[in-house]
Amino acid sequence: MKKETIQPAKYLNGALELPGDKSISHRYAMLAALAAGTSELRHFSAAADCHSTLGCMSALGAEVKIEKNTVRVTGRGAHGLKSSWRALDAGNSGTTMRLLAGILAGQSFTSKLTGDDSLQRRPMKRVIAPLLEMGADIHGREDNFAPLEIRGTKLKAIDYQMPLASAQVKSAVLLAGLFAEGVTSVTEPARTRDHTELALEEFGATVDINGQTIRVHGPGGGNGSGRLTARSLDVPGDLSSAVFFLAAASLFPDSNVLIHNVGLNPTRTAILDVLAEMGASIQMLGLKSSQGEIIGDLAVKGASLKGGVIAGARIPLVIDELPMMAALGPYTEEGIEIRDAAELRVKESDRISAVAENLRRMGAKVEQRPDGLKVEGLRAGKLHGAEIEPRRDHRIAMAFAVAGLAAEGNTVIRDAGCAGVSFPTFFTELNRLAER
Ligand code: S3P
Repeated sequence: MKKETIQPAKYLNGALELPGDKSISHRYAMLAALAAGTSELRHFSAAADCHSTLGCMSALGAEVKIEKNTVRVTGRGAHGLKSSWRALDAGNSGTTMRLLAGILAGQSFTSKLTGDDSLQRRPMKRVIAPLLEMGADIHGREDNFAPLEIRGTKLKAIDYQMPLASAQVKSAVLLAGLFAEGVTSVTEPARTRDHTELALEEFGATVDINGQTIRVHGPGGGNGSGRLTARSLDVPGDLSSAVFFLAAASLFPDSNVLIHNVGLNPTRTAILDVLAEMGASIQMLGLKSSQGEIIGDLAVKGASLKGGVIAGARIPLVIDELPMMAALGPYTEEGIEIRDAAELRVKESDRISAVAENLRRMGAKVEQRPDGLKVEGLRAGKLHGAEIEPRRDHRIAMAFAVAGLAAEGNTVIRDAGCAGVSFPTFFTELNRLAER
């Protein structure tokens, strides 16, 4: 269990490039394994989570070759996957498990899908329920938890009114829809990231989008699963990883950081609006569109942050960034309040409780609520260094490393290696940019 010590910084300065986007990497790896031929996926995520997906696709018969951050995946077409003799291991990755459940439901073989302790505690009913409606044969512990046993079968298309705003659930149903007779539709109650829709189009599937309803054609109609084609694609840098550096740079008036090649898909950039409303100084530069995704550089300077409330329909669009925002709370004028975010309790850890506990260790005033928290701002006093327990959750470890940069004295992050779940070089990059 490696610890990292974070010393206070004077400011952040320099340029950096981030690992490839985690959400996009998962989707490209899965669709490449369902396409006929070899796809080249450049700047593929270094995240352990995405390598869990690659491991699963390889166990299912796709050929996976990894050369630095270029991954070549050779698939044998939509019906070319084969049964794995061992359980598929999604590791810590909810995206791997939920999206793959959709694909496996429509195969002609049985699979077992498992993951680490954290993933085995996370709810899977949200994907099991719509897949059962499609005719899937899928069983989990207490009908809700991994390991999942999925007996592949013939699926039928459904029109699914999704009860919660989850890109993972939407994606599981759309991917199952590739194997279902007819046209499968998903209507989301609030917008969520649309990388699955964009990736499906890139690989040649027919996807129609009408407001918050997304339709995908099964093998019989349109350009369904029969004809996914191998692609050569570049993965943009991960905005959710960039946020740790946007937050860190914002903390110090003299900071000046340039982040290259960041994915700026509009279903991900709500966090930039939140930061801008709070007074952060962030500029988007050199925007271009590539394979349906938008990419650009982000220039960030120090600023005094006002703080405020984050709530409502915005929550699903900033869900992964909320631990960082909460940990910024004590450095803002008014503090930060998060509402409508009960979903945080079923992420890699209970992120409401993990953030509250660690902020208190650093001397912050925090009120924990069922669906969020309220963190007092600067008036409640300066944070002091402390020993942080990230509960094996990458985003908690990284958020508190950033909070530690502006605290009094050193902050120790226990079990800091968990950052590798999304950002293996995080601590090296943070120390490189932090001037002390
Ligand atoms: C993800 C969707 C989000 C997010 C997760 C990645 C994805 O989960 O929290 O880190 O790649 O689809 P939900 O859609 O379940 O909220």
